[in-house]
Amino acid sequence: MRIEHTTVGIVGAGPAGLMLSHLLALAGIASVAVDARTRSEIENTHRAGILEHDSVRLLVDSGVSDRVLREGHEHRGIRLRFDGADHRIDFQRLAGASTWLYPQTAVFADLADARARDGGDVRFDGRDTAVDRLTGDEPVLRFTDADGIEAELRCDYLVGADGSRGLCRAQVPAEHRTQYFREYPFAWFGFLAAAPVSAPELIYARSEHGFALVSQRTETVQRMYFQCDPGARVEDWSDERIWEEMRRRLAGGDGFELRAGPILEKTVLPFRSFVQEPLRYGRMLLAGDAAHTVPPTGAKGLNLALADVRVLAEILERAVRQRDPGPLDDYTPRALARVWKAQHFSYWMTTMLHRDERGDGFDERRRLGELAGIVASEAGARYLAEGYTGWPAAVPV
Ligand code: DHB
Repeated sequence: MRIEHTTVGIVGAGPAGLMLSHLLALAGIASVAVDARTRSEIENTHRAGILEHDSVRLLVDSGVSDRVLREGHEHRGIRLRFDGADHRIDFQRLAGASTWLYPQTAVFADLADARARDGGDVRFDGRDTAVDRLTGDEPVLRFTDADGIEAELRCDYLVGADGSRGLCRAQVPAEHRTQYFREYPFAWFGFLAAAPVSAPELIYARSEHGFALVSQRTETVQRMYFQCDPGARVEDWSDERIWEEMRRRLAGGDGFELRAGPILEKTVLPFRSFVQEPLRYGRMLLAGDAAHTVPPTGAKGLNLALADVRVLAEILERAVRQRDPGPLDDYTPRALARVWKAQHFSYWMTTMLHRDERGDGFDERRRLGELAGIVASEAGARYLAEGYTGWPAAVPV
């Protein structure tokens, strides 16, 4: 077995792990990020596509990439569609901020390129990962690397950035953690289509047939979702059936026309709200989906992961400089302040916009009343705009 040392061992080389590694490097702190997947496996997993204002700033200001400014698309608002008509939420007017359409796969590619450019130590395709000695002074990360060599990485601190199905959060003994969660009685059917853009901004639609979301990727490829049963199977949904369902949910008297085309990829996305507290156990810290999951409505997952690691990098820098783990105590309360706002926002957007088959007519009518109240009220629309574009960061970049 090969024994190695680093300051921060990071389990997971998705956006959270790589951004943390990058920020630590800027502070002169060594780290190694290990991921069970290959780079191309991560790069080819389609995820959400919306970046908050501060996520864009973090990517640009920290020197990861300015591609987001060249190839991303600034969105200055969204449309809420219900009762067959669009209502615009003007982010710039209400919150003084925009969001950017820039897929998570591009964020990941930019981060992986930046780590390679800066000589970062990232080990993709590392199997049999395990963590140990979390409450000691020198936690370890064991794995078998891409060449089949067993390695033990001894660290000062360990970070679990290994996603919602990762191993790290389960290493916290049950008596030292609390898990909060909500299940939802629906899922999203997501697809990529070779079609022209249907509308200049995203459309979040509520109808008696369920939720639909019209998003975008490029001039010629679009990303869309519609609410489905959690047990839905992609093979039961032909292209024709998908377009028919989308049209039904987007129908209205305003002449809106959805532009269709061949469907390139189909997936069913599960819905779950989850938080594990605290975010620290001994010398291990959890970040991103490893610590919390939000349902996809509002695209908060990646943004929350980036906000976590921004706080975590600053705290780890203090701990390393002081040679004392004391500053780690600040991580849980600071990160959770944002996490719970985002949990509420994602839950609220989800329940307001989806149809719950278990509910009755009262709930359906009430939700329409809620939407009508939001779009008619300056304060209501601003609340949505502030949440969607992202609350101000707890610390400067
Ligand atoms: C996308 C995903 C979301 O969950 C969302 O709320 C908006 C856009 C997307 O993939 O484009």
